[in-house]
Amino acid sequence: MKKLDADDPITRSPDLVQENLERMRELFPEAFTEGKVDFQVLRQLLGDAVDDRDEKYGLNWHGKRRARHLALTPSTGTLRPCPEDSVDWDKTRNLVIEGDNLEVLKLLQKSYAGKVKLIYIDPPYNTGKDFVYPDDYQDNIKNYLERTGQVDSEGKKTSTNTEASGRFHTAWLNMMSARLTVARNLLHGSGAIWISIDDTEFANVRHLCAEIFGEENFVAGFIWQKRTTRENRKVFSSNHDYVVCYARDKFSFQAARKMLPLTEEVLGRYENPDNDPRREWQSVSLNAQAGHGTKAQYYKVTTPSGRVVEPPPGRCWVVTKTRMDELIADKRVWFGPDGNNVPREKIFLSEAKEGLTPHTLWPAEECGTNDSAKKSLMKLFDGAEVFDTPKPTDLLHRIVHISTCKDDSDATVLDFFAGSGTTGHAVMAQNAADSGHRRFILVQLPEPLDPENKDQKTAADFCDKLGKPRNIAELTKERLRRAGKKIKDETPLFAGDLGFRVFKLDSSNIRAWDAATKDVQKTLLDSVDNLKPDRGEADILYELLLKLGLDLAVAIERREIAGKTVHSIGGGALLACLDPRITADEVEALGQGIVAWHQSLAPVGDTTCVLRDSAFADDVAKTNLTAILEQYQDDDGHPRISKIRSL
Ligand SMILES: C[S@@+](CC[C@H](N)C(=O)[O-])C[C@H]1O[C@@H](n2cnc3c(N)ncnc32)[C@H](O)[C@@H]1O
Repeated sequence: MKKLDADDPITRSPDLVQENLERMRELFPEAFTEGKVDFQVLRQLLGDAVDDRDEKYGLNWHGKRRARHLALTPSTGTLRPCPEDSVDWDKTRNLVIEGDNLEVLKLLQKSYAGKVKLIYIDPPYNTGKDFVYPDDYQDNIKNYLERTGQVDSEGKKTSTNTEASGRFHTAWLNMMSARLTVARNLLHGSGAIWISIDDTEFANVRHLCAEIFGEENFVAGFIWQKRTTRENRKVFSSNHDYVVCYARDKFSFQAARKMLPLTEEVLGRYENPDNDPRREWQSVSLNAQAGHGTKAQYYKVTTPSGRVVEPPPGRCWVVTKTRMDELIADKRVWFGPDGNNVPREKIFLSEAKEGLTPHTLWPAEECGTNDSAKKSLMKLFDGAEVFDTPKPTDLLHRIVHISTCKDDSDATVLDFFAGSGTTGHAVMAQNAADSGHRRFILVQLPEPLDPENKDQKTAADFCDKLGKPRNIAELTKERLRRAGKKIKDETPLFAGDLGFRVFKLDSSNIRAWDAATKDVQKTLLDSVDNLKPDRGEADILYELLLKLGLDLAVAIERREIAGKTVHSIGGGALLACLDPRITADEVEALGQGIVAWHQSLAPVGDTTCVLRDSAFADDVAKTNLTAILEQYQDDDGHPRISKIRSL
């Protein structure tokens, strides 16, 4: 039985540098000597594709290298379950995670890499009024707990990022580049990221995304009309924001992308003047500009009235004669009410699988405005203006509709700057509208709200009224509770997911070996039990889930075996008994009970079994239990429980 400690790879988020090296070694084994990269060999293997000139095209800023390093440093944190803040804990697949998004994104890597269809983010625009937290701390988890007021510190510093700071764009780029780098790994092959931004950082978002996602994966830059009124006292009234979209792989994204539903106006164009049994249709031209045509597209067509027609001057038919004859035979060509006009193709409504191609201009009447978003949020919060910069749910509806499919039960939507939770609201509303199965993961910093600050007073008071801590994550959760209830009231027949599981970022449950401690004796004694004393079984179970790459929404079953609680997670992928005491005479019954349960679960794939190291009275008990579990083998003599570990 191998003991897991804080240095074990299983207790950390993935080591992305190591993963990159392994990928490279697979491609270029000859470029590795004694585990290190030989750049000279690599350069030879890559030939002319290497650009090592000092001056090259691209975005550069002070701290870029550090930001890359930060993205690659594994997190030592964990996510602790919080059922008391959640809605429908047992059934829901939606997640709300309180914490700094960089750490959270790292922790989600093992469970959600390549699984997210849509990422939408609305980060701070860096207008000089919003907070951009520095990440330059040794211990990011400690830093996070300090700046959110969860632990004391002398070094706590949060400040707005003003132009006077001299590092205005730099601080923002450092913050964004690490997060986008980690987020990219989570995107599904046909997924895309959509980023709301204004002119302050629009150019930087384009350059940064080109580096991280590849310029070839740029999908479009949308202009959203965020305001319909004029901003007075300004040189120009700024009435739009941008939404920039990059795909993980543009071709896969385009193949999976959805059209917008047909509008009433477009539907009105479909008619059935010839009583076609295939019902309503509209006609489209069958001729095109001649420059693009081949010889086979110039021929004569005889209309039903007997008139012989050719393509109009300067034009050719869009189909060959054979295809035209097929269309005519299938009554798919319209020659006008008298059968005398130039031919046009009939497109039936029933066959028009494609809807409207989305425009890159998104008008206020279709996607809402900043003002309409604020008003509907205020309505949901009993008239209190608790959040300054919500996006309209209609804007998110559009993005969710284009990027996800209702039947895809794995269509995960991630927003790691969740704010008031508009993305979660839109996902639930969209599911209610089309009986979809999409799920959401929202991440929001529990950014403190100060009642002494006039801009934050209403929100802080609102938290007080709810009896909740004063921070923005409380607003996110409350919005989702209220939105879920509203959707249920408006669509009582909808039986889909309107709940969410809450998790909170914290330091790992596995006690880190504190090398810096002065009290060596205490550390030695502490490490006898590797688990922190203030953490419960559920905390440890969910940390195991994350570290083994299982979904945080997975069902957990419990059974009493030999008087101990044993948990089965993911249908037997993980078996865990975290009881604090297992005596020598309990080992046989416990071991056999675990084997019997595993047999009935019959999971596909590997199983890991985890026990508490300090639970065993002596090494004999531990060795005996390990032996029972190891003797349970398949026909080829392989242990069915492939990993037996202790914490
Ligand atoms: C512009 S708001 C998002 C608004 C959201 N789209 C809505 O409709 O309500 C940006 C949010 O990101 C949060 N935020 C900023 N830095 C963060 C971080 N490092 N981790 C998680 N959330 C963060 C802020 O607290 C803020 O609520």
